[in-house]
Amino acid sequence: TEALFDAYRLPEEHSDIRAAVRAVCDAKVAPNAAHADETGEFPTGSYDALRAADFHAPHIPVEYGGAGADALATAIVIEEVARACTSSSLIPAVNKLGTMPLLLAGSEDLKRRFLTPVASGEAMFSYCLSEPDAGSDAASMSTRAERDGEHYVLNGVKRWITNAGVSEYYTVFAVTDPAARSRGISAFVVAKSDPGVSFGAPEKKLGIKGSPTREVYLDNVRIPADRMIGAPGTGFATAMQTLDHTRVTIAAQAVGIAQGALDYAKGYVKERHQFGKPIADFQGIQFMLADMGMKLEAARQLTYAAAGRSERGDADLTYFGAAAKCFASDAAMEITTDAVQLLGGYGYTRDYPLERMMRDAKITQIYEGTNQVQRIVMARQLLQG
Ligand code: CAA
Repeated sequence: TEALFDAYRLPEEHSDIRAAVRAVCDAKVAPNAAHADETGEFPTGSYDALRAADFHAPHIPVEYGGAGADALATAIVIEEVARACTSSSLIPAVNKLGTMPLLLAGSEDLKRRFLTPVASGEAMFSYCLSEPDAGSDAASMSTRAERDGEHYVLNGVKRWITNAGVSEYYTVFAVTDPAARSRGISAFVVAKSDPGVSFGAPEKKLGIKGSPTREVYLDNVRIPADRMIGAPGTGFATAMQTLDHTRVTIAAQAVGIAQGALDYAKGYVKERHQFGKPIADFQGIQFMLADMGMKLEAARQLTYAAAGRSERGDADLTYFGAAAKCFASDAAMEITTDAVQLLGGYGYTRDYPLERMMRDAKITQIYEGTNQVQRIVMARQLLQG
């Protein structure tokens, strides 16, 4: 029975990881959050602090020089970084997203060459699936990769690419066999230094302003054929399997943002006096806090349940990844909105961090598949059974 009860308790090792990440983030990540948001500058100070503590890409296995964190530990790292600064949390999150196709389907040689520099903190890795006209309908992409002897030549435009420009490496999905639709898509490793790779202007976004989002242009990018990840035509399945795992990390990011907002609001309502007492003494405020805490914990539990499935590679990960991402991001939007409300006029100003958290939370309902797409994924899984 002890083992059964342990299933509902965070292992001590994971609690220790949380404490370690929180210490780094309180000291060296949180102080960058407002500046990154105000200026749109990439938070180099956060990247350096995360690299120094080996939290920048914790999921990379030990054999490639990484920390070898399991999916739950990785989720906790991302959650804790997001609690301090959402933009900074996209460093470990997108490093996982970009490298997951290699981890799932890449050759040993590719893994050795391209995972090692990510583990050491020399390079970041982004993921190029979406295009201007292929968002939710990812299989309708038009970026082409044509075989030419021992090379492939890539042409096309990828859009909404997180950390584009700062990342050294990119997993690019491209059509190799147009007649085969989703079975005619292949995945490739492309480097920023490959001739023909360039970037669009940074998008002007509502939130996550410290994490650059840009278009990636591929103009006759000629790469060796051994840069293909897995077999020709398996790219779309690899893209979907990747998202099954990384939707869990977006859920974790949402949980972290919500925790940051709840923690701040909790402190505020105990200090703020109106009608002769702290506003925390009013039941209307207490009920709001109780709802926020309840939703947050439900989101966290679903996220950790999904992380367990991600680590084990369970068949129901597709369902759990979508459910966790959808639920946690909706919860984060509600909780951050209520947190702004608890601070009243102050919450609406940039003098306090809550409006930033609310703006940052919004993206978690959109990227790595909109929450409408998550519901499509969940419904398909439910009806399959
Ligand atoms: N695992 C393995 N294979 C899968 C899979 C999964 N989870 N999901 C689908 N597949 C396979 C199917 O089995 C099928 O294979 P066969 O043809 O061999 O049978 C093939 O992929 C096509 O599947 P569907 O017919 O289900 O594909 P679809 O065109 O109907 O699309 C979709 C389904 C769920 C809507 C999918 O397109 C999707 O997830 N869309 C959202 C895309 C998305 O999340 N984009 C996020 C971009 S990344 C990002 O946002 C990060 C950033 O940097 C900003």
